[in-house]
Amino acid sequence: METRVFTTSEEDIAEAGRVLARGGLVAFPTETVYGLGADAMNGAAVKAVYAAKGRPSDNPMIVHIADFPEIEKLTPRITPLMKCLMEAFWPGPMTLVVPKVAGIPDETTGGLDTVGIRMPSDPVAREFIRKSGCPIAAPSANTSGRPSPTRADHVLQDMDGKIHGIIRGGDCQVGIESTVIDVTGSNPVILRPGIITKDQIQKAVAGLGCQAEIDPALLSQGPQSADFKPKAPGMKYRHYAPKAEMFIVSGGEDAVNSKIQSLKEEYEMAGKKVGVLLFKEGDLKAAAHDFFKRLRDFDDDNTDVILAGALSQEDGVGFAVMNRMLKSAGYSIIEA
Ligand code: TXA
Ligand code: MG
Repeated sequence: METRVFTTSEEDIAEAGRVLARGGLVAFPTETVYGLGADAMNGAAVKAVYAAKGRPSDNPMIVHIADFPEIEKLTPRITPLMKCLMEAFWPGPMTLVVPKVAGIPDETTGGLDTVGIRMPSDPVAREFIRKSGCPIAAPSANTSGRPSPTRADHVLQDMDGKIHGIIRGGDCQVGIESTVIDVTGSNPVILRPGIITKDQIQKAVAGLGCQAEIDPALLSQGPQSADFKPKAPGMKYRHYAPKAEMFIVSGGEDAVNSKIQSLKEEYEMAGKKVGVLLFKEGDLKAAAHDFFKRLRDFDDDNTDVILAGALSQEDGVGFAVMNRMLKSAGYSIIEA
């Protein structure tokens, strides 16, 4: 199949919307990462997304809407907790997991009785959703297991020839995927960390007397540990894996720098191509913005070994980037 490349002109976005409404797969930019969209109400179209990505079919998709009233078609009722978070963080990089209405196909929700809903802030994304006339189911537009795409070229690397089109927007501002929050209980529970942090969520819901929580599986040491039972199905798969072997070096700044230097020399002596991934602690948003792009760059350079400096997880944004870094490295940590 030929993948059509659309610009962000009004006519092109409208044409991309028609392709999607007819059951096609169209990738599009959002403020977090590029999404691979299909009509969320069309089970066959959503099934084709799983095939294009090579994604396990028990992993539910996020349904994207452009305007607040559309949520009423997807969930039976809006609770005070939902309303409070929607008003605080939409449009923006937050997904709410809520009870679903019966009309949403099982393909979209991986057979669950809940659905993840997000209203992105990217103006191209919102225009595209409006023009298509349907809620859009969209996972990140990467081949399953590869780093999420933050540029149109990343999407084409993985999806050219497998999807009907892509809207070529700019680079994604945030760079990591949305914060996923389960709001089916009395407290909001973070199922996937993102740029919207637990502290921000706590501030937003304080007036309701709620406590923001984190799914305990996110605090465990990964798939090997007994308490690793994530509630978001997607969190249990090996993710974001670069082709290189990757290690995270953890400890004080000076110790980390010298450990990385000595490991680098060792690997280079053994004839390996080494990539070093060090972010400035003071600018965690920049780390989020660059993380996936850097992993793809290492792949393009045929890097054999990536040595990454751990980030402080005390800040919620550092916690979110480290969640991805740990998965990329298969939880391999070296103490400096
Ligand atoms: O920023 C984002 O969220 C991007 C852009 C395109 O919007 N989308 C994205 O989708 O990251 P995806 O499919 O790569 O990740 C969705 C995550 C998965 O971990 C999935 O298991 C979880 O959200 N999820 C979706 N619906 C859920 C539900 N009903 N219950 C629990 N987890 C859910
Ligand atoms: Mg993904």
